[in-house]
Amino acid sequence: MSVYPLLRRFLFRLDPEAGHAVGMAALRAVQAIPPVRALVSRAHRVSDPRLSQTFFGREFPNPVGLAAGLDKNAVAVHGFAALGFGFVEAGTVTPLAQAGNPKPRLFRFPAAETLQNAMGFNNGGMESFRRHVEGALPLSVPLGINIGKNKATPPEKTLEDYATLIRGLHDLADYLVVNLSSPNTPGLRDLQNEAFVRSLLKLAGELTRKPVLVKIAPDLAPEAAADLCEAAVEAGAAGIIATNTTTDYSLLPGARDFGGLSGKVLTGKSFQVFDAVARRLFGRTVLVSVGGIGSGAEAFKRLRAGASLVQIYTALIYQGPSLVRRINRELLEILDREGMTGIAEAIGADREKPARPVL
Ligand code: FNR
Repeated sequence: MSVYPLLRRFLFRLDPEAGHAVGMAALRAVQAIPPVRALVSRAHRVSDPRLSQTFFGREFPNPVGLAAGLDKNAVAVHGFAALGFGFVEAGTVTPLAQAGNPKPRLFRFPAAETLQNAMGFNNGGMESFRRHVEGALPLSVPLGINIGKNKATPPEKTLEDYATLIRGLHDLADYLVVNLSSPNTPGLRDLQNEAFVRSLLKLAGELTRKPVLVKIAPDLAPEAAADLCEAAVEAGAAGIIATNTTTDYSLLPGARDFGGLSGKVLTGKSFQVFDAVARRLFGRTVLVSVGGIGSGAEAFKRLRAGASLVQIYTALIYQGPSLVRRINRELLEILDREGMTGIAEAIGADREKPARPVL
């Protein structure tokens, strides 16, 4: 029986950011005590070769990853691995530490299992991020590092911020993500244009051999999103992460008019954009689906549509840490039911197979 419903009642009495801080502190305590970490890991991890895949030269023990934004400073990677995640994306990290937007900037909508956030890349900056990861090595699961520009950086210096981050962190990452899709840094989403994406990926290619993925917003028209992602892949992107939070406030009665919505209300919109991107790019790059995933069935739907990996954030807040195990177990049940030997068989099952798969 899960104790999370009880714990949630306590956490949800706190202001959302305070609740977040308590959860992170608990997870850091777990990871700091090796026997406790081992116990938590035994209770949460699902080890089954049918869930395992290799990308970017690393084994991903299962396809369910932690989405960016929860572990912004990479302080709890071992803790999240112990909760059963198959990979962890830390960040968004910016070159310099920054406080983010004024509070309140995080809101819960429990009836809709939705969050609204306008955090604005609050984080401790690249140097402290680097120290945290170095102190945690070796990691038991792949680490993605999600990078973004400082708010104070003028538009004409944006590329320099990304270059600084790639130079400063690429050796620690199994993959890097250029985040062009947060609604909470003024002008960031304007960078979702082919010219900028091409110049950013060209620069990245000169600075690192590590895979660089692009994370996009769900508010692009689906075909425009597919065009942009295709340009990104042509320019050297190793994958696409779709999607970030939405600024379509019509999805949630009572939503604030700033920040981004995540969780259940995002499910349909996120899938629609992912599906358009996958229709264009499945078999040509690694596709990661994120947005409103909270069950094995939804995760499986994303895999069938062409996702090699999925990520979660908001459902973890509402359903608690047993969620990752549940999704992985449900995936195994669905594979059995469908007579599939492993998730590789499920990935892209709804898509026409490319004539010559590149992966
Ligand atoms: C996020 N997300 C996010 N994404 C990102 O690329 N960098 C970031 O720093 C953050 N920060 C962040 C903070 C908070 C409070 C939330 C709720 C979300 C977006 C996140 O990674 C994910 O793309 C969306 O939340 C959609 O997934 P879920 O939450 O519906 O599973």
